Amino acid sequence: MYALITGASSGIGFECAKILASKGYDLIITARSIDKLNNLKELINKEYQKEVVIIPLDISKRESLTELFTKTKDYEIEVVINNAGLGKVGMFNEVTDAEDFNMIDINVTAMHMILKHYADVMNKGYILTVASIASFAPGPKMATYYATKNYIRSYAEALRYEMKKLKKDVGITILAPGPVDTNFNDTANVTFKLKGVKADKCASYAIKRMFKKKKFATPKWSVRAASRLMRIIPHRTSMRICYKSQSKKQK
Ligand SMILES: NC(=O)c1ccc[n+]([C@@H]2O[C@H](COP(=O)([O-])OP(=O)(O)OC[C@H]3O[C@@H](n4cnc5c(N)ncnc54)[C@H](OP(=O)(O)O)[C@@H]3O)[C@@H](O)[C@H]2O)c1
Repeated sequence: MYALITGASSGIGFECAKILASKGYDLIITARSIDKLNNLKELINKEYQKEVVIIPLDISKRESLTELFTKTKDYEIEVVINNAGLGKVGMFNEVTDAEDFNMIDINVTAMHMILKHYADVMNKGYILTVASIASFAPGPKMATYYATKNYIRSYAEALRYEMKKLKKDVGITILAPGPVDTNFNDTANVTFKLKGVKADKCASYAIKRMFKKKKFATPKWSVRAASRLMRIIPHRTSMRICYKSQSKKQK
């Protein structure tokens, strides 16, 4: 039985790959960094003696999605970790058009199509889609990232509902973490003021929730409390808090 992990070359995806191999899954891993994927393959082969299929892809390109779906069609996939994503901090006019396109192409288009495709072709199993605590409100000073994560959280929630209507035995869980210590910060050009959770802790919590087919996975009680609050306070208030905190985080 296979687990497919996007964005497996670092951070949350990398840790998910190790946990799933330790649970007996063979892996299909994707990202752009072939060297890092090869290192992960070597580590998994050595530690867990599981098969690892590498599909190097730039997931921002539509043809990469077709390639992914074609290359995985003969594997029996039971777990999908729909994880590859990135953010960028700044006022809307400080973020370049290319950066906006990249976030939308990866966090929205690729995540949407991957979730849709595997929810359709799988008869049984688990899909973890990585959103963020940012998925519960608009986010001034990181507007595109928050909007993309709102999109994928909303889409995943609706698909989860539809899967129940279709009586399909495929769980859809949304990972909505706060800060996690990964390469995300460097890509997003931020330094978190709050202490982030370790990527291995985040992955292990998320996978536990996924196997229980829970709707949300948010590691750390304080972040869970904040995410609940974000869902009930007026957006005017949450945006004020977000603007201040993103301003402090910007490098
Ligand atoms: N870290 C946090 O604080 C945090 C908080 C909330 C949510 N998240 C979410 O967690 C997910 C994983 O991020 P992370 O924190 O683990 O960061 P990360 O260490 O930067 O990992 C991002 C992964 O996405 C892959 N990726 C990026 N662009 C890609 C592209 N064009 N094509 C294919 N793969 C691509 C990267 O691989 P390559 O560079 O090798 O392609 C890497 O494996 C993201 O969806 C992020 O939004 C992170």
